[in-house]
Amino acid sequence: MSREKLIEIARINKEHSLNGTIELEDGIFEVPAKNYFDRDRWQQEVDLIFKRVPLVLGLSAEIPNIGDYKAIEVVGVPVVITRDNKGEVRAFLNACPHRGAQLKEVGLGNSTYFSCPYHGWTFNDDGSLRGIATPKDFGDADKLCLDLISLPASEKAGIIWVTLNPNSDLNIDSFLSGYDKMLSNFGLENWHIFNYRTLKGPNWKVAYDGYLDLYHIPVLHKDTFGDNFSNRAMYYNWGPHQKVISPYRLPQQDNFEPEGLPSEKDYFDKPFEEWPMSVLMAGVWTIFPHISIASFTGGGRSIMLSQLFPGDKPEDSITHQYYLMEKKPNKKQAKEAHEQFKLLKYVVEIEDYKTGINLQKSLKTGMIKSVKFGRNEGGGRRFHKWVDQLLNTEDKNLTSLF
Ligand SMILES: [Fe+2]
Repeated sequence: MSREKLIEIARINKEHSLNGTIELEDGIFEVPAKNYFDRDRWQQEVDLIFKRVPLVLGLSAEIPNIGDYKAIEVVGVPVVITRDNKGEVRAFLNACPHRGAQLKEVGLGNSTYFSCPYHGWTFNDDGSLRGIATPKDFGDADKLCLDLISLPASEKAGIIWVTLNPNSDLNIDSFLSGYDKMLSNFGLENWHIFNYRTLKGPNWKVAYDGYLDLYHIPVLHKDTFGDNFSNRAMYYNWGPHQKVISPYRLPQQDNFEPEGLPSEKDYFDKPFEEWPMSVLMAGVWTIFPHISIASFTGGGRSIMLSQLFPGDKPEDSITHQYYLMEKKPNKKQAKEAHEQFKLLKYVVEIEDYKTGINLQKSLKTGMIKSVKFGRNEGGGRRFHKWVDQLLNTEDKNLTSLF
C-alpha cells in the first residue's frame, strides 16, 4: 500500500514537472509575528504541544540490544528509554520516586535494571520497584506507589515515539495517520548511525518553518548546495506530518541529484513500477511537531535526521542532528560522509539558524506585524494551522483531532 502511495506521489509530481506547475494554496496566509516571541504563547506551545503529542525521542538503532537505554532531557523533562528483556521499548520519567534523583545521566548505556545513585533503590526494566535500601528502617514502602513513572512509548519504522504525559490516551496510530508506514520504507532500524551533534538555534517555529521551506534554497544556500536547486515545493500530508519534494525540473538536472546512486533523472521516463524505493523516498519527510528527515548521498545513501526542541526561552531551540547511512561505510565513504555532515553543519548553523536568529530580532521589534506564507508555501501554512488547533482545542486528550 505504501509503495502505491509513493507511486501516486511520483505520478502527481511528474505531471507538475511536465506542466511546469506546482499546487498552489488559496491566497496568502499570515501568522501574527507575536506568535514567534510571546512568552505566554511559547509556554503554551511547550505545555500543549510538546507535553501532549508523541515526540520522536530516539531511534531503534540507538538502543538495538536488550538492556540498552538512552537518557535524554526534553523541554525540561528527564526521560529514559530502554529496551526491556522482551525486546520492547519502554520509557520512564528518569527519576527515582523516592526523592526524584535522576537514575541515568544523559547519554546511551546498557543495564538490565535501574539503580538510583542517591540511595541505591533499584527498579526492574519494566519500571517496577525491585528493592529499597534497608527496608526495615525505611518503613512500609508497599503502601506507596514506588514504581517508576511510565510514559507511553512506541517503536515504529525504526523510530521511537514517547509522550511526556503518563496519562495520555492518545492513540499513536491515529496521531501518525499512516505516516509510519511510509517512513518504514527507509528501513531505518537497519541503518548505521554514522555521526551526531547538537546545535543551538532560534525559536523552534522559526527553525521548523525553514525545514518545511524549499522557497529559500537557491537563495540562502547558493554558496553551499542550493545553486541551481528548484525553489518550488509540493507538500503531501498524513495528518499533521508532511513530505516536501520539488517537482523534477526538465531538462535541467537538479545538481542535488546524487552521483553514482539512482536518481529521479535516471527513472523519469521509465514506468513507475521500475522506480527503486530510494528514488521514491527522495525529498524531505517531516514529522510533526519537530522532525525533519532529508536524504543525502555523502558516502552512499544517507539521511540527516534533525530533532528539534524548544530551548529555555522563546528565542532558543536545540537541534539534535543525526547522520544515518544505509550501509556501514568503508574508509573512503566515511571520509565523504564526514565532509557531507560538516557541510550540513555550516548550512544549518550559519545559513539557516543565523538567519533565523536575526529575523526573530526583527519580529520582536513589533514593527513587522505578521509573517507571510505565500500560495507556494503550503507546508508552513499547514504547520501553523496545526499549532493553532492544538493550542485552541477543548479536547484535552486530543483524540478528536487525530
Ligand atoms: Fe535552509
